[in-house]
Amino acid sequence: MERAALALQGEASVYTGLLRSLLLLAWMVEARDPYTGGHLWRVAHLAELLAEAAGFPSKEVQRIALAAFLHDLGKVGVPDSTLCKQGKLSGEEYQTVQQHAEIGLRLLQPHPLASMVVSVVHHHHERPDGKGYPLGLTGDNIPLDARLVAVCDAFDAMTSHRPYRAGMPVEHALDVIEAGLGQQFDAHLGELFLELGRAGRFSGVVGFCDDGIPLAHCDACGPVLVRDRTAQAGDFTRCPACKAGYRWVLSGASMLAVVDDEGSQHMGWTGSDGSLLDHLVERWAVLL
Ligand SMILES: [Fe+2]
Repeated sequence: MERAALALQGEASVYTGLLRSLLLLAWMVEARDPYTGGHLWRVAHLAELLAEAAGFPSKEVQRIALAAFLHDLGKVGVPDSTLCKQGKLSGEEYQTVQQHAEIGLRLLQPHPLASMVVSVVHHHHERPDGKGYPLGLTGDNIPLDARLVAVCDAFDAMTSHRPYRAGMPVEHALDVIEAGLGQQFDAHLGELFLELGRAGRFSGVVGFCDDGIPLAHCDACGPVLVRDRTAQAGDFTRCPACKAGYRWVLSGASMLAVVDDEGSQHMGWTGSDGSLLDHLVERWAVLL
C-alpha cells in the first residue's frame, strides 16, 4: 500500500479509537447509576427519531444521537449518597445533582472530540422559560441540540421505573410534555415529539435497553436489569440497585431473569457491552 494511503488509514484508526474512548465514558455513567439501565441508549434513540422528524441532515442527526448518548456523563462526579438515594432528594441534594451538567462539560472539554457533544452535555437541563440549569438560558439562547435532547431525556425519565415509583404510561408522559410546551420544553420540537409518540414510534424504545432487548424486571425493586448483547442463557447477574441475584433463562424466543441467589455472589456488572460499543463506533464513525 502506498505511504499516503497507509497514513490515511492510520489517521482514520486514530479517530476511530478516539470515538471508542469517548463512547466508553458512557458506560462509566451506567456503572455508577443503578437506576438508569439503558437510559443513555433510549435517549440516543429518541433523539435520533426526533432529529430526523425535525428534518436535520443525516450527519447532524447522528451527531445529536451521539451527544444524547453522552448527555449525563457528569453524573460520574455526583456522590453515591445522592445519586443512589431512593426517594425524594432534599434541596441541597438536588443542587448537588444539578452540578452534573457543569461537571460533564469540564470532564469532557479536553477530549479531542468534545466539540461534537459538549453543548448537549452542558445544556440538556435548560428550559425555554429560563428556569432550567446550569445557566438559566432562555428560548433560542439554548443550543438547539440541547433543547432536542431535553425533551427526550425528560420523557425517558418519566416513563422509566424506579425502585420507589413506577414509570408513567407513555400517553401520560406525552400529556406532561404537551402541558410544558414553550415553558419547560421547546414548543416546536415538543410538538414533533408528541406526534411521534402518539403515532406509536417509541414502542421499541420505552422499556428497552438496546435494539430488541427489553429491560428485565427485578422482582424486588423494579426493572433495572440490563442484559447486554453477549449474555447467554445460564449467565448470572444481579440487580445493581437492590443486589438481588438473577440468572438468565431462555423462554421461547426471549430471555427472562429468574431469581437465583447464586447471582448475588457474582459481580452483576459485566462491564462495557463490547458488542454494542463496536456497533456504535461503526455507526458514528461517519462523523469523523
Ligand atoms: Fe442530566
